[in-house]
Amino acid sequence: MMAAMLSTVDPGDEVVVFEPFYENYGPDCILSGAVPRYVALRPPDWRFDPDELRAAFNARTRAIVINTPHNPTGKVYTPEELQLIARLCQEWDVVAITDEIYEHLVYDGEHLSVAALPGMAERTITISGASKTYSVTGWRVGWLVAPPVLTGGIRKVHDFLTVGAAHPLQIAVAAALRFPASFYDALLEEYR
Ligand SMILES: Cc1ncc(COP(=O)(O)O)c(C=O)c1O
Repeated sequence: MMAAMLSTVDPGDEVVVFEPFYENYGPDCILSGAVPRYVALRPPDWRFDPDELRAAFNARTRAIVINTPHNPTGKVYTPEELQLIARLCQEWDVVAITDEIYEHLVYDGEHLSVAALPGMAERTITISGASKTYSVTGWRVGWLVAPPVLTGGIRKVHDFLTVGAAHPLQIAVAAALRFPASFYDALLEEYR
C-alpha cells in the first residue's frame, strides 16, 4: 500500500478514502504528502452516498483507496458501487488502489475486482497478500498487480522501503499459491 501510494501520488494531491478504514490508509496518504478526502460508509449496510462520492472527486484527485471485502465492517462492494467508482476514476483520471486481502472470504456470490471492469485494468493497483488466505498474518508477504506504467515506480519505491520480504517466506507463499481450489472451499467453510 505504501509503495503504491508513494509512487502514485505527489504532495498536495488528494486521495479519496472511504471511512471507517483499515488503519494504514490515512497514514499512507499523509506520509505521501497527499490530502485524504474521506467519504462515509454508513450503517446498517455500509453503503456510501453516490453524491458524496462524486463531490469528493476534483482536478486534484489522484487516487482512490478501495478495500473489498472491507475491514472493519465486512462490507463487500456491490458491482454497482464499483461501476460508479470506475466511472469517476475514468472521468477524473484517477488511479484505483484496491486492497483485496480478504478476496477469498466472500460468503455470498463472487469476489469482484475493480480492475476487471472495462477501462480499469490500466488504472488499477490491485493488492493482496498471504496473511488472511493462508492464516499467516505475521509473515507480512503481499503482492500487487498493476500495469507496467505504474509498476516501474512502485518497484523502485518498494526496493527502498523494504528491499524485499524474507526469501524463505516468499518460497512458502509461492507454494501456497498453487494450492488446489478445494483449499479455498475448506477455508470458507471453516469460517462459516
Ligand atoms: C484490509 C487489510 N489490509 C492489509 C492487512 C495487513 O496485511 P499484511 O499482513 O500483509 O501486512 C490487513 C490486516 O489486518 C487488513 O485488514
